[in-house]
Amino acid sequence: VHIVGAGPGDPELLTRKAWRLLRQAEVIVHDRLVGAEVLALADPTARLIDVGKRPGGKGYRQSEINALLCHLAGQGRRVLRLKGGDPFVFGRGGEELEALRKRGIAVEVVPGITAATAAAANVGIPLTHRGTATAVTLVTGHGEAGEPDLDWSRLASPRHTLALYMAVRRAPAVAARLIDEGLAPGTAVAVIERASTPQQRTLRATLDGLAALIRDHGVRAPALIIVGEVAALAADDALAALAPASRPYEEASS
Ligand SMILES: C[S@@+](CC[C@H](N)C(=O)[O-])C[C@H]1O[C@@H](n2cnc3c(N)ncnc32)[C@H](O)[C@@H]1O
Repeated sequence: VHIVGAGPGDPELLTRKAWRLLRQAEVIVHDRLVGAEVLALADPTARLIDVGKRPGGKGYRQSEINALLCHLAGQGRRVLRLKGGDPFVFGRGGEELEALRKRGIAVEVVPGITAATAAAANVGIPLTHRGTATAVTLVTGHGEAGEPDLDWSRLASPRHTLALYMAVRRAPAVAARLIDEGLAPGTAVAVIERASTPQQRTLRATLDGLAALIRDHGVRAPALIIVGEVAALAADDALAALAPASRPYEEASS
């Protein structure tokens, strides 16, 4: 089994290894976040299994996905477990790796471009920036029982960039908590919805205006929220459209 990161959506952000494995796989077990353009690169005879949703119901439970991977590998199939972004960044790739290893199944993990680096690059936010941001933390906005168990006072430290995943719904609570812990209400924030896809949208605010921004613009997942002074460097959508990174390679290099 290959556990492979598909990147944030743009098929050009797949690694060459992911692309090769995608073409060679007999069975592809993928998440909802993996887009149609990426899946279109698979061999036409490959069987695609979407574990992000099933007819009339919710997605598969993690234990069911683990069992499915073990079952398919046991049949001697070349199995590709394709996950959005990087499999080891809020992707539960570690749980799948453990389950497969326990069964003695050979596994290789292939990294992918995670949402934070893709979103930041696309809008011109350096996640670290000399003098402005000397640390970056990838944070989930969503814990098993609501608020994630985090050391909020450390996260609220200056010259520190936070890249918040799965945080749209809890953004008002996260912003309030960071302000309570001492982060300036005027700290810059950027929200990047559907980074690296044609539907990408970038919005900017300050921490105390994040809740209103999300509400007023109807921000929906998947979106990445960047908190920290570097977020002020985000190009707005009009400027981002001119950035070489968002144009096809041929056009950018001509
Ligand atoms: C379950 S996590 C998976 C993260 C993934 N493994 C990665 O490395 O990017 C899902 C969250 O990732 C973020 N995300 C994934 N793809 C994104 C995209 N194209 N644009 C913005 N955020 C994205 C969102 O915060 C979303 O709620």
